[in-house]
Parts: sequence; structure tokens; C-alpha cells
Amino acid sequence: MKDNRLVEKLKNHSAKVVVLGLGYVGLPLATVLAEAGYRVTGVDLDQNKVDQINQGTSYIDDVDASQVKRLVEKGYLQASSDFSAVREADAVSICVPTPLRKTRDPDLSFIVTVTESIAPYIHPGMVVVLESTTYPGTTRELLLPKLVVDKELMIGENFFLAFSPERVDPGREDWTTKNTPKIVGGMTANCTEVAATFYEGAMDHVVRVSTAEVAEMTKLLENTFRMVNIGLVNEMAIMCDRMGIDVWEVIDAAATKPFGFMKFTPGPGLGGHCIPIDPLFLSWKLRSLNYTARFIDLASEINTGMPRYVVSKVQEALNHQQKALNGSKVLVLGAAYKPDIDDVRESPALDVIGLLKQNGAEVSYHDPYIPELRHENIDLSSVPDLMAAVEEADCVVIITNHSQYNYQVIYEKASCIMDARNALGEIGKDDPKLIRL
Ligand SMILES: NC(=O)c1ccc[n+]([C@@H]2O[C@H](COP(=O)([O-])OP(=O)(O)OC[C@H]3O[C@@H](n4cnc5c(N)ncnc54)[C@H](O)[C@@H]3O)[C@@H](O)[C@H]2O)c1
Repeated sequence: MKDNRLVEKLKNHSAKVVVLGLGYVGLPLATVLAEAGYRVTGVDLDQNKVDQINQGTSYIDDVDASQVKRLVEKGYLQASSDFSAVREADAVSICVPTPLRKTRDPDLSFIVTVTESIAPYIHPGMVVVLESTTYPGTTRELLLPKLVVDKELMIGENFFLAFSPERVDPGREDWTTKNTPKIVGGMTANCTEVAATFYEGAMDHVVRVSTAEVAEMTKLLENTFRMVNIGLVNEMAIMCDRMGIDVWEVIDAAATKPFGFMKFTPGPGLGGHCIPIDPLFLSWKLRSLNYTARFIDLASEINTGMPRYVVSKVQEALNHQQKALNGSKVLVLGAAYKPDIDDVRESPALDVIGLLKQNGAEVSYHDPYIPELRHENIDLSSVPDLMAAVEEADCVVIITNHSQYNYQVIYEKASCIMDARNALGEIGKDDPKLIRL
């Protein structure tokens, strides 16, 4: 049996929705759900975010302030720091962070805390969906026993719990929260169906899978696929360098094959909240089952070694100028983990800057999206005059290939460049002052 009243409310969009966690994932999701006509309350512990939403502004690049303003004014979207909003909710999506601890073990404390915060308000006739990336089994082992404590609640009958991974790629405009197919897997077949109905009210395409574990694992396969392939292409760059072959030309040539090859490009290391972290959830879980996730471990080893490799290439570039890294002025271009976004989480720029400093370089950086950079022993502000800094530097290191940089002018003004992204492409191809990854 399914709760027909709940299904009806989801179908006619009169359902009240709560989105827990209004970050890179939660805010876009809340706006998509509100845009579809659900009455959405976003709940976040960060009062500053709550205030900004209620004032009709946005702090996430992918979400337009004008859209937030319109949705708030029309009463479709509001924010709060009060979890009792769940008491009135028909559907709840959980989008809190799932980082790693310093020991590289999953930190599920945000999921645990938020689940405990909403548990007193869980009632019959509602659906709860976890969206945060995590290891297979989390929804069933961690959420279910914490949420279904009341005897009135019958899973799959009058209370529905599912996992649906968020697949958003921040900064991307072609594939968004709304049009990227949404995977949904529940505790029971009814749970899958009710959660799928919820998302079908707002998303273009919903894909049902048989269990929450399948949905959890799907997300980890996707991100492990990227991590392993990036590890492979990074090692390819190292091997090509040993053999004096241009890896970028090799990749472009291989990418002309219309089938059986997918293009990945080397770089200074993994970044962001997903690719460097999510596969480690899987290897951690497998360790508890006495299995070593070998591809993940190997790719992780290669990828985490890339910042050190980039620094060795900076040394090589300076060597060509008869200069030592120690005492040289090094300007790092781009601190964000990928082009055209303002996110520095796990960015390889942080490791590269740390290593350059450790080796005695005088480091500065420029990033149009990141005015300040504070991390461990790094406390820097983006240089105010980019071109003056390029001219002054003994070496310019391109870590993030932001599209607004004029690479032709940077090439002309710089005395030495290490390009870790092939941002320069054909510019200065055989010039000895330029070294590519
Ligand atoms: N950022 C991405 O590109 C991306 C893509 C796919 C999946 N994910 C996954 O989605 C989840 C959320 O990631 P994110 O990037 O949105 O994180 P985020 O840090 O941008 O946002 C999380 C929000 O949750 C809030 N929060 C923390 N604890 C809370 C609590 N107990 N109650 C209410 N709010 C709380 C924080 O204040 C923050 O605003 C993670 O599991 C992540 O792995 C992220």
C-alpha cells in the first residue's frame, strides 16, 4: 500500500517541501523544486545563508539572485534555521556535507546531526530523501533506525525513505539540477515510487533503481570512473614526459576515435568536494569487508602526487632560466579547483602553493573568483594588478585555466611559464621559456 494522499499532493504540487542544507547542492535543488510549484523551506544552520535567501539574494553562482527574489516574493521559497519546519513537510531532501576526516575516513557527523535534528518531527505521510554522497548502506543502516522510531511509522506504507544522488557539476550550464537524469532508489519498492513521484514533479527525467544501495553505489561508480581515468591520464603525462612525447597531442589524436575512447586531460591534481573524496568512501567501506579497492588506491596515489610533480616542473622551468626555486618569485594563476568557479575546496592550487613555499619560493597568486586564500600556512590575497605581477614573476604557474585570462598577453609578458592545464594550447609551443605538464 502507498500513502495515496501524499502521492496526490506530490502530483498536484501542493506538497510542502523542506531542503536541509542550502549549499552548492541544496540551494539549486530548492529553487528547482520551488520553480515547479512546491512550497519549499530551506533549512540551514548558517544564519547568514538563511538571511540572504529571505532577502532574495543568492550566494551560489549557479543560482540567479533574481530567481531567488521572485520565488521568495511569490511565497514559493523561504529559509529558516528551525528544523520544526519538518513537522508540516510532505517531502524532505537532505543535502548536508559529507567530507573526509583528516585520517581520510568518511565524516558522517553532518548526516547524523541533521537526522537527529529532524527525527522529532517525522510523521506518517511523508517522504525523506538523502542526497548527500556517501557509502552504500548509509540510508538503511544510519537513517532508517534514527527516523523510524515511532510505532505509527511503517516504512513503505505511510513513511517513505530513499536515496537519490545529486549529480550537479557546478558552473555547468548544459546539464543542470533540472535536466540531469535523477536516480532514485528506496528502502522498499513503494519508497522508490513515492520518492520518484516527488522528483518527477520538478525534474525532467527520473530513473528508478531497485534499492537505495544501488543508488548510493551508482554515484560512487560515476565519481570513481572519473578519478581513475584522471589518474590514468596523469600517469600518461608523466610517462610521455619521460619519452619526450607531447601528451596533449596524443590525447587529441586518441579523441578522434569515434568509439571506445573518452577524453580526460591531465592536471595539477584533483579538486572539489566530490572526485577526490567520494571514491574514498567506497575504499573505506570495502576495507571493513577485508577488500582493497586497488584502482581507487592507485589512482589516488598518482593524483595526490601531481602537485609535487607540478612543482618539479616549475623547478625545471626556472632551471632553464638559470634560476633556483628557492628565492624566486612565483605567481600562481588560478586557485579554484576548476575553471570559472569560486570553489577552492580540495583545490590542488593549495598543495602547489604550500609546496612552493616549502621550497623557499616567494609565492603570490591571482584568481578573479577568489579574492582571499586562507588554508593551513597560506594567507594570501589575489594580486590586484595581474599583468604587473606576470611581468614581475620569475615564473608564472597556470593551475586553473579560467576562460577570462588573455593567455596570449600572459605568454608575451611572462619571462617563464609552467602551464599545468595546457591553457596556452598552440601559443608559444616550442618556446623554451614555456613548460607544459
Ligand atoms: N558540490 C558539488 O558539486 C556536489 C555534487 C554532487 C553531490 N554533492 C554532495 O552533496 C552534499 C552537499 O554538498 P554541497 O557541495 O552542497 O555542500 P555545502 O558545504 O556547499 O553545503 C552544505 C550546507 O549544509 C549546511 N549544513 C551543515 N550541517 C547542517 C545541519 N545539521 N542542518 C542543516 N544544514 C546544515 C551547511 O551550512 C551548508 O550550507 C555532499 O554530500 C556532497 O558530496 C556535491
